[in-house]
Amino acid sequence: MYGSSHMEISELRTAGGGLLQTHNNLPPVGPPDTCDFTEGQPEHCLKAGDERVNEILNLAMMHTAFLREHNRLAKKVANSCRRYRRNNNRMFEETRRIMIGVMQNIVFYEFLPKVLGRKMMRRNGLLEEQYRGYDESVNPSILNEFATAAYRFGHSLVMDEFEFMTTDYSVETTKHVSQTFFKPEEIQYTEQAKKLLRFLTTDRTFKMDREFNPAIQDLLFLDQNHDSFDLPAANTQRGRDHGLAPYMEIRRACRLPTVTTFENLYGISEDDRARLASVYAHVDDIDLFVGGILEEHVDGGIVGPTFACIIGEQFRRLKVGDRYYFERRKESIREFDRRQIAAIKEHSLAKILCENFDFQYIQRDVMKVPNCISNPTQLCSQLPDLDMNVFC
Ligand code: HEM
Repeated sequence: MYGSSHMEISELRTAGGGLLQTHNNLPPVGPPDTCDFTEGQPEHCLKAGDERVNEILNLAMMHTAFLREHNRLAKKVANSCRRYRRNNNRMFEETRRIMIGVMQNIVFYEFLPKVLGRKMMRRNGLLEEQYRGYDESVNPSILNEFATAAYRFGHSLVMDEFEFMTTDYSVETTKHVSQTFFKPEEIQYTEQAKKLLRFLTTDRTFKMDREFNPAIQDLLFLDQNHDSFDLPAANTQRGRDHGLAPYMEIRRACRLPTVTTFENLYGISEDDRARLASVYAHVDDIDLFVGGILEEHVDGGIVGPTFACIIGEQFRRLKVGDRYYFERRKESIREFDRRQIAAIKEHSLAKILCENFDFQYIQRDVMKVPNCISNPTQLCSQLPDLDMNVFC
């Protein structure tokens, strides 16, 4: 959301109040060639810290949620923290610092356990109680195997349509996902955005498997000849461009069992083993993305053991190799103290969505569907809000 360079962030900030720029409480207007609206349409392309903001509605929605949260917290900083009040830069940086902590908490403790399951979280030292502090010998940069194969597992989860739901969660309209590529239209209308958010917070994601939504194979980046960008095929090719080691070699590096024949491939269905045998000459040739996507999932997770190994290792490095990780023990003015860490841990994605989209009810764990016993819907006002007093 803040971009990756000084130039990007300076274009997204305002001159006062520690705020990020908005346009009608949405991300600011981006260049017209970054999305797919024709001139004269009332909607606009969005601008954010990541150029993909316009690509798909749910991504635009998350950018909007975090942008609004930054501004909500910045106003609280301005109100509660007298010492920053006259200093726009301090207000901005302090809010950004808190926001990064809030996002890390959501990623490491709300999201990652659902991807990896508890056992793989433990194996990679990612559980809350396993954190032992910053380790300067750990390199936190992004692994080629992570960006070019494992973390693209998300491409298999892409749904085929968005639903727009009324207050009683019945479906009012639907829109095929391909109609929304580079058209962030609905979130620009308050009621439509809320209808979409009701769907996003209650719908089940697709399963990671061999099935990819045809929209991202046959309808993405359509050119004048109606040729598209086949995303799963591009992922496979990109692995070769980047010189990734093949599937079997990565399994070996992960200390997972390896095999020499297609019949013996662990954790891949009989059907898929036959498919692999029909396109590869030998199991050692299988591409990492292809083998990984076909694996049965680890206990309690949504990816197979090879992707879980790569994703677990990547997030371990991101956690212990980051000097600025929010739970790092206080040694200087830079780190959060215990009360501040506790406050950040109380905050949740559910509360962020409630506060910024004016919801009345939501389930506490918004990345799981509501369930009256394990994840009941509750009043937004009952969810704890970030206690800003501890930061001043
Ligand atoms: C409709 C939804 C999505 C579309 C249209 C999309 C499209 C793309 C495209 C076009 C690329 C570049 C491919 C290349 O040329 O190598 C890419 C890369 C990537 N995607 Fe997606 N994606 C979507 C959702 C997701 C999700 C849900 C995840 C993960 C949870 C994900 C993870 C990645 C990663 C890790 C990369 C590589 C980025 C890099 O190396 O910089 N994508 N995606």
